[in-house]
Amino acid sequence: MSVAAARPRTRWTLRRRLVAVVLVLLASVAAVMGVVSTLALRSSLIGQIDQRLESASQRAEQAPERFRDGMPTDAPTAGDSSGTEPTPPTTGTDVPPALGLPGQDVGTVNVYQLNGQTLSGYLDDDGVSQQLTDEQLDVLLGLTPSGAMVTVELPELGSYRVVSTTNDDGDLSITALPLSGATSTVDKFLAVEIAVAAIGLLVGAWLATVLVRRELRPLDRVAATATRVAQMPLARGEVEIAERVPEQDTDPGTEVGQVGSALNQMLGHVESALTARHESETQVRRFVADASHELRTPLASIRGYAELVQRLPEDLPEDALRAMGRVESEARRMTTLVEDMLLLARLDAGRDLDLQEVDLAGLAVDAVADAHVAGPDHDWRLDLGEEDDEPPAPVIGDEHRLRQVLLNLLSNARVHTPAGTRVVVSVREEGSEVVLRVRDDGPGIPEPLLSRLFLRFARGDESRNRAAGSTGLGLAIVRAVVTAHGGTIVADGTPGATTFTVRLPRADPVA
Ligand SMILES: Nc1ncnc2c1ncn2[C@@H]1O[C@H](COP(=O)(O)OP(=O)(O)OP(=O)(O)O)[C@@H](O)[C@H]1O
Ligand SMILES: [Mg+2]
Repeated sequence: MSVAAARPRTRWTLRRRLVAVVLVLLASVAAVMGVVSTLALRSSLIGQIDQRLESASQRAEQAPERFRDGMPTDAPTAGDSSGTEPTPPTTGTDVPPALGLPGQDVGTVNVYQLNGQTLSGYLDDDGVSQQLTDEQLDVLLGLTPSGAMVTVELPELGSYRVVSTTNDDGDLSITALPLSGATSTVDKFLAVEIAVAAIGLLVGAWLATVLVRRELRPLDRVAATATRVAQMPLARGEVEIAERVPEQDTDPGTEVGQVGSALNQMLGHVESALTARHESETQVRRFVADASHELRTPLASIRGYAELVQRLPEDLPEDALRAMGRVESEARRMTTLVEDMLLLARLDAGRDLDLQEVDLAGLAVDAVADAHVAGPDHDWRLDLGEEDDEPPAPVIGDEHRLRQVLLNLLSNARVHTPAGTRVVVSVREEGSEVVLRVRDDGPGIPEPLLSRLFLRFARGDESRNRAAGSTGLGLAIVRAVVTAHGGTIVADGTPGATTFTVRLPRADPVA
């Protein structure tokens, strides 16, 4: 049982199930009608046979009287043209007299026991009286002479309705009529009924398929609308959901129409909610951008005055000079922070990039050269492939921003690793992408930080980093720039092989 539950069951479609239900209903109705009408026909046919049997039995009971009296029968002779009319006994003297009477049906069986003598016979298809075999006689004589009509199976002759009676003298009279006529009628009726039911089921299946398909077509259209909406990019930017279920499929009088109109209502609701959210996001972004922008000027003044004061060493005591130095360095740090926040706000707002063909390998050469100066204690390496390799293709991008990506990644490799760490910067063309890798053999990135590495203000050792002037915006900016270029960035924080891999689409040679 658990095995069956574990295996996903292939479910039938609603269409198929509806057609199957209709077919099962049709088949059940046809079967019930068939059984009932066949039973009714059979019992009415047997009723008719029983009536004929009763009169045949009465005739037979009177026949011995005539036999005893030696009266001649007024039956037609053997050569009579009617064929179905019985003829007088033609074989043997122990043929029952009733078989010679007029009006006896073909197949009628008669047995008499009178004065200790047994007479038996039946009329064959030609109306000629034939002897019963001993086995047939045994079956008939084995019946209780109650006068009730019963069905028996006579060897070689088939099913028979039989009545067995005795008269006051104790003479036994048995009369039987064949059921073969009734059976074959019932069989034919049944065959016709099965054929009609089969044709009815085929037509029913076809009709049900056509109707169900037609009735469910609106549901397809509703599903298609939902699928199209599901494929729309709703996660970012201004969202406008123009898709709606067509008017004709939103009639609240039908179930499908209810689904369609509910979907339309939901789409309208989702659209207005997304628009409201987008507006509030835009406001926050604009506020951050404006605030950052406004902060730049006063920060520049603070820096300038701090520098100015420091140039007047003789006018100020030692402590005040040191304090002014701190004011200047903090103002510098705050300026970087404000610049970063402004940049992120602009990238979020989807500000257009200044796109042109950029040689990423060239940028890497410059960045490594700068890194040599900024971090002389690190071992900086550049890897642009073998000498005779084709240089990597350019990318389409904003050169200034891409420079910043390299700067942030290399400054991380410098700031967050100990002196002597080897840093390898490589640029390669891989398929339709240009891949930039910055790899260092430093201490790596711990797992808890790795999962939120690219989030804003995500930093490793908080206290140490804050003291070192790091804010945790560097990688957030890197990802925002790379994403804006239609690229991806992944980090592998393995100690001894920390790698940042940036993939950017290659500039299309034709374009
Ligand atoms: N190459 C690296 N090796 C080890 N840790 C790293 C490396 N690069 C980044 N990290 C970790 O990831 C954190 C986030 O880096 P990110 O550049 O976003 O911020 P930051 O360097 O701390 O600050 P900012 O770049 O804004 O000055 C860092 O604080 C550091 O702990
Ligand atoms: Mg950084």
